Amino acid sequence: MAKFIVTGGLGFIGSHTTVELIDQGYEVVVVDDLSNSTIETLDRIESITGVKPIFEQFDLRDKSKVSELFKKHSDQQGVIHFAASKAVGESVEKPLLYYENNLNSLIYILQELSASENKNFIFSSSCTVYGEAEILPITEDAPVALAESPYGNTKQIGEEIIRDICKTSDEFNAIALRYFNPIGAHASGNLGELPLGIPQNLIPYITQTAIGLREKLLVFGNDYNTIDGTGVRDYIHVVDLAKAHIVALKRLIDNKNKSNYEIFNLGTGKGNSVLEVIQAFEKVSNVKLNYEITDRRSGDIESAYADTKKANEELGWKAEMSLEDALLHSWQWELNLRQNN
Ligand code: UFG
Repeated sequence: MAKFIVTGGLGFIGSHTTVELIDQGYEVVVVDDLSNSTIETLDRIESITGVKPIFEQFDLRDKSKVSELFKKHSDQQGVIHFAASKAVGESVEKPLLYYENNLNSLIYILQELSASENKNFIFSSSCTVYGEAEILPITEDAPVALAESPYGNTKQIGEEIIRDICKTSDEFNAIALRYFNPIGAHASGNLGELPLGIPQNLIPYITQTAIGLREKLLVFGNDYNTIDGTGVRDYIHVVDLAKAHIVALKRLIDNKNKSNYEIFNLGTGKGNSVLEVIQAFEKVSNVKLNYEITDRRSGDIESAYADTKKANEELGWKAEMSLEDALLHSWQWELNLRQNN
């Protein structure tokens, strides 16, 4: 049974990926400092899979602990690196914290991985690297734009660091996965997103408004050049996204990669406006949502959705679930959370 290290394994995408890895028979070492996650997520993973993953709790900025991790798990066959701070607005206010947290941890892991027997690495990147793309849908060849936020910049710099390392050694194999907008929750209703404080992202704001935790959703702008004037995004179910990580990891282990540094967009290929998301949510939940149109949010782009050809054809992965599936699962997760608290 191959063993993988999943950093940030108790976070939103990390926990769903851990579940999929366990379901496919792999052994998982979860590394998480609980800075933006809770220990109960470990129990939730166990209740879904019947297996409690190995858990190492520490901050990846602690270089000696990263070193210990790789000594202890020298039989690891690959690392999926999710651990990072991810709040765009906070990153603008605290840039050094973001550069320190997201880049130091990445560098320490890559240093250890370079000295390990198996050098397979999957990196959580983001469609934010494209900024406001000129051509839609967005292919992997679209130019990388000047980053809008320090958070986005850590993803760009992270990709560059990995690309440079791959140039130094053919033995080092990496894939950067550029996510579009991950949403949804596990179909069991027992695992999902746990935003701290007031949610910044659309879907948790919708579900919290629908359940009565927030008074109303503010729709940021209806004067964009889109189908109904509201922003368009490519919303991808987190379980589809999680599965893509396993496909990518297998590609590296089976030496199927075409070069030792590859990049794939992960999205559905379909763009939906904020109003379309609201309508779809109302349909699947049977709840009327209180919302109001307000000004644009600074830093927001108009439209982004993925060209999924490369991921479909080369990776052999395709998103299977619909926007409605994702919204239903997010809603079931919200209901479950509030019923039990
Ligand atoms: N929106 C609202 N009201 C809200 C929240 C969001 O109208 O309360 C709108 C936004 O204006 C946007 C859409 O809903 O049109 C999606 O917004 P999100 O905040 O959910 O997602 P973003 O596309 O802004 O952000 C995502 C990731 C970031 C990443 C960014 C860059 O969450 O990590 O994409 O593309 F940096």
